[in-house]
Amino acid sequence: MALFKRKESILGIDISPSAIKLIELSRSGPRFRVEAFAVEPLGEGMMEDRNPADPDAMGEVIKRACRKSGTRVRRAAVAVPTSSVITRTIPMPAEFKESDIEVNLSIEAAQYIPYPIEEIYLDFEMKGPSQASSEMQDVMLVATRKENVDTREAALKNAGLVPVIVDIEAYALENSFRLLMESLPKAGGGGSLSLDKPRDGLTALVDIGATITNLYILQQDRVIFTREQGFGCDQLTLRIAETYGLSREQAEQAKRSADSVAEDFATAVLEPFKHMLAEQIGHGLQFFFSSDQYASGRYNVDTITLVGGGAMIVGLDRVVADVLGIATVVANPFKNMGSAAKVNSSALLRDAPMLVVAGGLALRSFD
Ligand SMILES: Nc1ncnc2c1ncn2[C@@H]1O[C@H](COP(=O)(O)OP(=O)(O)OP(=O)(O)O)[C@@H](O)[C@H]1O
Ligand SMILES: [Mg+2]
Repeated sequence: MALFKRKESILGIDISPSAIKLIELSRSGPRFRVEAFAVEPLGEGMMEDRNPADPDAMGEVIKRACRKSGTRVRRAAVAVPTSSVITRTIPMPAEFKESDIEVNLSIEAAQYIPYPIEEIYLDFEMKGPSQASSEMQDVMLVATRKENVDTREAALKNAGLVPVIVDIEAYALENSFRLLMESLPKAGGGGSLSLDKPRDGLTALVDIGATITNLYILQQDRVIFTREQGFGCDQLTLRIAETYGLSREQAEQAKRSADSVAEDFATAVLEPFKHMLAEQIGHGLQFFFSSDQYASGRYNVDTITLVGGGAMIVGLDRVVADVLGIATVVANPFKNMGSAAKVNSSALLRDAPMLVVAGGLALRSFD
């Protein structure tokens, strides 16, 4: 009987190219608490094509992250990268029940997914009546190559954890975003919302990573558009290394420490980089506004929320807001949460933007 037994939490583990990020949350009533967290850097070559190159070695790093965080939770959730997942909405007969869809799934998928069916995992979501015909319903196919899931599950198992959820980064971000929505600047309250356009609640979430940046457009709390762009914070590291004749490691250190490498660091390197990022984000937005579905001019992005390591670049939010004329904030999904005594709360505050995916995964504990 589980009446008074507290439901065991699920660890959120983000296996990303730069680091393992781990979060454990608990909840009492409406309040969440951070019970444990860790960021364990990954050396070069640990990830290959965005997957763990060697699940044994990755298991060791995850084990280390667990140990450092002090967590005792063993069940864990991971996410595959958004770009590794193919989603297609297809019509199926309206009378099809879940079991009928399951039977027909792989036949349908073969037409829409560009990989051999034996190399992918397939899932689906029933979306309701089809717009096109009353005799049809929309079914969203979700597919990813098996290796994206298998390598992550193997790494977790090697760390002594029990994989219970394999999510998609975009959904983990949606989950965290629900907590962030409260703190977003309200339209018309000093933001750049133009008054002649209807408020439609679109928000851009920009995940600036080491080598890639993902732009997500959300309507309320649902992702409606995604675009991956090939730039990230590692470019800043390279620029620092080149400009000042430093090794990669030294440049990485310099980037993170508050004291600058050289007198002209801000003017020659950092500020131009922030402007470049802002302009790239602008290009991504233009892409959204020129896509078939959203080109009507009716849509407006009210706010930009920055997440990922890039969001930790001091003052980036201000530059993005200035360049694009859209209110911009740096995400901290843990802002209104308490934390356990063993949690280093200043490190949590500093790393919060990088922990948004892990946090979204940990929130799955309370589904
Ligand atoms: N304080 C900081 N200031 C500037 N950049 C930082 C800081 N801390 C981390 N970074 C940079 O953030 C990047 C890592 O971000 P993040 O963890 O979001 O990437 P990732 O998810 O591992 O990679 P990707 O999203 O590209 O697949 C690295 O380039 C790192 O140097
Ligand atoms: Mg990332």
